[in-house]
Amino acid sequence: MKRRLLYTFAALAVAAVLVSQFKGKVVAWYVDNHTVRTTALPSSGQPDQVCLTWSGDPRATQTIEWRTAPAVPDGWVQYREKADANNTPAEAEATLTSVNDRLLQNDQLIHRFTSVLHGLKPATAYQYRAGSKQQDHWSDWAEFTTAPDKPVGFSFVYMGDPQIGLDSWGKLMQAAEQRCPTAAFYAIAGDQVDNGNRRDQWDDFFDAARGVLDRHPLVPCLGNHDYGKRLAPEMYLQLLTLPENGPKTLPAEHAYSFRFAGALFVVLDSNQALKEQTPWLEEQLAQPGPTWKFVMYHHPAYSSKGTRDNEELRQLWTPLFDKYHVDVALQGHDHAYLRTYPMKEGKRAQSAKDGVYYIVSVSGTKYYEQTQHDYAEIAFTKTSTYQIFDVTTDPNRLTYRAYDVQGNVKDEFTIDKQG
Ligand SMILES: [Fe+2]
Repeated sequence: MKRRLLYTFAALAVAAVLVSQFKGKVVAWYVDNHTVRTTALPSSGQPDQVCLTWSGDPRATQTIEWRTAPAVPDGWVQYREKADANNTPAEAEATLTSVNDRLLQNDQLIHRFTSVLHGLKPATAYQYRAGSKQQDHWSDWAEFTTAPDKPVGFSFVYMGDPQIGLDSWGKLMQAAEQRCPTAAFYAIAGDQVDNGNRRDQWDDFFDAARGVLDRHPLVPCLGNHDYGKRLAPEMYLQLLTLPENGPKTLPAEHAYSFRFAGALFVVLDSNQALKEQTPWLEEQLAQPGPTWKFVMYHHPAYSSKGTRDNEELRQLWTPLFDKYHVDVALQGHDHAYLRTYPMKEGKRAQSAKDGVYYIVSVSGTKYYEQTQHDYAEIAFTKTSTYQIFDVTTDPNRLTYRAYDVQGNVKDEFTIDKQG
């Protein structure tokens, strides 16, 4: 009897310690997994949320995804070269994923279709529409352009966390689209939504991106909020189809790399297994050939607030960025704007020729305070921005500008490179 009392007391003590340690996380997990919600944007027979990504070679493939109500059984893409707009379009069938959010009061289940077009010509404009042959419901015709097969000039857009304030984020997307209608893609450095396993938030995300991500591929990376309160970013992986060329030590699509014109892009998952990704990161950066090297991950190596330091990431990855001379690191998570001086071995380098620029930015409306750092060339907060990179080949020059939604230039720099 005494022993049983002792065990009960010990168990209660352990439970009390656990609750005090993890109370916030337990409450957040409980709320996340039990709060019933509705989506303001339910699916229908009409395809919507059309989004381009790459899961294969950007020179020869295009991945197209969209949503319908579950009554739609089939998915197809019709496509043709823009120059042959009078030709009968080719057709590619889509695969179907049922996405279930059991806590939605309306529209719990949707069909998400994914079609990968193969055998495309490089640097070529295509028209396409997505839909159902059985129901004869189609999206509007839209356009995309495949990647060039040689180094040529190009532009792309980079943004930090959309996450909260997706209405405002949509206005920023439209501003970026108007300023740079030829953007090759949109790179987003994680936290696409506030809670990655709530489909109603993804509905808001795709709706706000209408007219942009159906014309320019989304290049996303995983933020902590894309995981939600779970161990895996389940809905992110269901909704987006990405390259599977990442490290074998991580689940597929968490990290990946691709080439575009004369540039290498390496996308990492900074939420977990940093050490396990490091050999793969080195393999990618060591590949000969690219004139420009970009890396993207969520948690900044040089944070905008002292209490948000990511020391392990800085120690593991930045020596490789130095060794293989990454030009710019695209980051998020800190809900402010910060751009470092060119950095090498933890110190300010002479110029971009010797060092790496690290950028933190935010595109949603959640802002954190910014503290001063000797590594920051420019830093501010409470401003959502989008960034445009313009790359030219003659001369080899990279021009970077950060804009607010009114079009004011908030930051800029240029890197010139020989050969
Ligand atoms: Fe984050």
